Amino acid sequence: MGIQITPSMLASDFANLEAEAARIGSADWLHMDVMDNHFVPNLTLGAPVIEALAKVAKQPIDAHLMIEDPDRWAPEYVEAGAGSITFHVEAAAAPIRLAREIRAKGARASMALKPATPIEPYADMLPELDMVLIMTVEPGFGGQKFLDVCLPKIRRTRDLIDRHGGDIWLQVDGGVSVETIERCADAGADVFVAGSAVFGADDPDDMVAQLRALGSRAGRHAH
Ligand code: DX5
Ligand code: ZN
Repeated sequence: MGIQITPSMLASDFANLEAEAARIGSADWLHMDVMDNHFVPNLTLGAPVIEALAKVAKQPIDAHLMIEDPDRWAPEYVEAGAGSITFHVEAAAAPIRLAREIRAKGARASMALKPATPIEPYADMLPELDMVLIMTVEPGFGGQKFLDVCLPKIRRTRDLIDRHGGDIWLQVDGGVSVETIERCADAGADVFVAGSAVFGADDPDDMVAQLRALGSRAGRHAH
């Protein structure tokens, strides 16, 4: 699997989600940021919006749940049509049970870590996961500055994944742009969320292509 670009729709025009998804035809996934004003100090969208977009978009939905009690709510997002569900481990009461439930319902299971959350306590959980998301900003808002302090954790997570040997994707989210994507790819990330970089560009689909080219060239698995 090469690298993947998953634009964050948080930076798109919420009045025209179908048209915005069509503007980024070469994107691999549509990243949808669900915020509940409890886990993070912001409120965005929920399962009904994801269900509506999943019906009309040609790309699959990558749902990033920045919510309390994902154990209770995450299954609803599989039913809404998301192909990948990311829950925050800081909020999950029973992350292994939750990952198994997401997979059993037919979606990819992914676990997110805030910038100050270490990966090491969860190393034994990797076989339960299809993706790990390392946040490179504090979750809650688009347009924040990339936190370089997260790069060593991306590297250590890549090493753990390689040692485990499974096909687990490593996603980064927050401040990813033409300025920062190479650092992330070099550290071992292979799935890149970008919101303001993509939708702030004159040609969003061309920006997806630029990010893909930079990420592929820099990636540890580049060829
Ligand atoms: C932040 C969200 C991100 C956000 C990224 O909490 O999880 O997905 O949309 O936006 P940019 O790429 O602008 O940092
Ligand atoms: Zn996100």
